[in-house]
Amino acid sequence: MTHMAPSSAQRFPDGFVWGAATAAYQIEGAVDADGRTPSIWDAFCAIPGAVAGGDTGERAVEHYHRMPDDVDLIALLGLPAYRFSVSWTRVMGDGDAVNARGLDFYDRLVDALTARGIEPWLTLYHWDLPQALEAKGGWAERDTAHRLADLTEVVATRLGDRVRHWVTLNEPFCSSFIGYAGGEHAPGRREPKAAVAAAHHLLLAHGLSTRTLRSVAPGSRVGIALNPTTILPRDPGNDDDRAAAVLVDGLRNRMFLDPLLRGAYPADMLTHLEPFGLADVVDDGDLDVIAAPLDLLGINYYDESVVSGRGDGPAGSTEGDDGGPGRHVVGSPWVGAEDVRFHSRGLPATTQGWEIRPDGLRDLLVRLHADYPGLPPVYVTENGAAFDDVVTVDGIHDTDRLDYVRGHLRALAAAIDAGVDVRGYFAWSLLDNFEWAWGYAKRFGIVHVDFDTQERTIKDSGHWYATVAASNAIPA
Ligand code: NOJ
Repeated sequence: MTHMAPSSAQRFPDGFVWGAATAAYQIEGAVDADGRTPSIWDAFCAIPGAVAGGDTGERAVEHYHRMPDDVDLIALLGLPAYRFSVSWTRVMGDGDAVNARGLDFYDRLVDALTARGIEPWLTLYHWDLPQALEAKGGWAERDTAHRLADLTEVVATRLGDRVRHWVTLNEPFCSSFIGYAGGEHAPGRREPKAAVAAAHHLLLAHGLSTRTLRSVAPGSRVGIALNPTTILPRDPGNDDDRAAAVLVDGLRNRMFLDPLLRGAYPADMLTHLEPFGLADVVDDGDLDVIAAPLDLLGINYYDESVVSGRGDGPAGSTEGDDGGPGRHVVGSPWVGAEDVRFHSRGLPATTQGWEIRPDGLRDLLVRLHADYPGLPPVYVTENGAAFDDVVTVDGIHDTDRLDYVRGHLRALAAAIDAGVDVRGYFAWSLLDNFEWAWGYAKRFGIVHVDFDTQERTIKDSGHWYATVAASNAIPA
């Protein structure tokens, strides 16, 4: 018999940050309260067929009214950090006048967190553009970038004495390509040129907001949350598949990473997006603004993609991360690469069909570390999975979600062992919530929410995650 070494807990570096994440529109509800005005998601939800089940964020999980209890829940889980986003239209409406009552909510939230020793991580833009700005062209307009910087100034002036960690944008790939070309997310446009302009203007908004934070709240740690992932050719020996993988990697990953971390758009993307006007929207000096040094890089990670080239495979994308349920007619987020096909590998998957391969997280982080010398400290700002939870008399035994999180934490530990400077992890999500185009049918919470009674119940994954946070280790 071989001698087995006793298994031991896998420890994380001292000071590693453990948290959970949410976003305003997904949890707050109270869409008309205290002067809030409509965002593009309110408008999008009203389009028949846009969101599965006709769901909307109107009620969501009533976080706006239950905030103190939800903060108690974070404290009960023993999580030292909480990532949330600010609803732009609570704070500024059409981008001009400040709405004091909306801003007060976030002031109370930050106070509630700090009173319980929980570090606030504030995301300035998690997809809920004011509809009034969309009416003027939305992210396809350069001015929108300046309007986000205005919001940043207002929020940082009020909260900068207590909030030290800032995330400017959440997943600009989704806000631009899925919102403006794929049409599966708000504002539901299918205009490739507008999507390309949106991508650039979002990056510019990041740069301008970063500049604002540096002057209004010096000492802040500023970053952005991207959702890069590995794009694999279905057949590595096939030229078309390899070319498709490079193209999709460009659109999803390098379009955002390169300007931020290298100060330039990738040469292949400048060529590929030339007919879609990329060079036309870039003004002198923009890239210097966009590439201002970051204190941290947020990575939201869920799954990988496998692609093939022209004409191979069934039409329609099985694109996982952040794509909607595909129940209504949508365009393609892959500007100029609409022929690319996405494939499953037959691996176990979440209820959204997102295939589970935890080591993909390690592979991605190791690649980023190799490709971008001087990579800022990385925080996994989101990771988690949707599964169909079963509520039993003695709790929610979500072994599948627990396994998903444990697998990804092991992969994260492996990335750290391989030399990547990873400093924190945020579970997506604290609560079951409004999963965008998928509505409420897909539950990501480590805490279950009964959407009728709004009762919160910590799932097994949440209890387990609390032990990880308490011990700074993956239990043996
Ligand atoms: C990324 C987004 O930031 C978040 O809002 C979403 O719910 C999760 N992924 C899961 O799709």
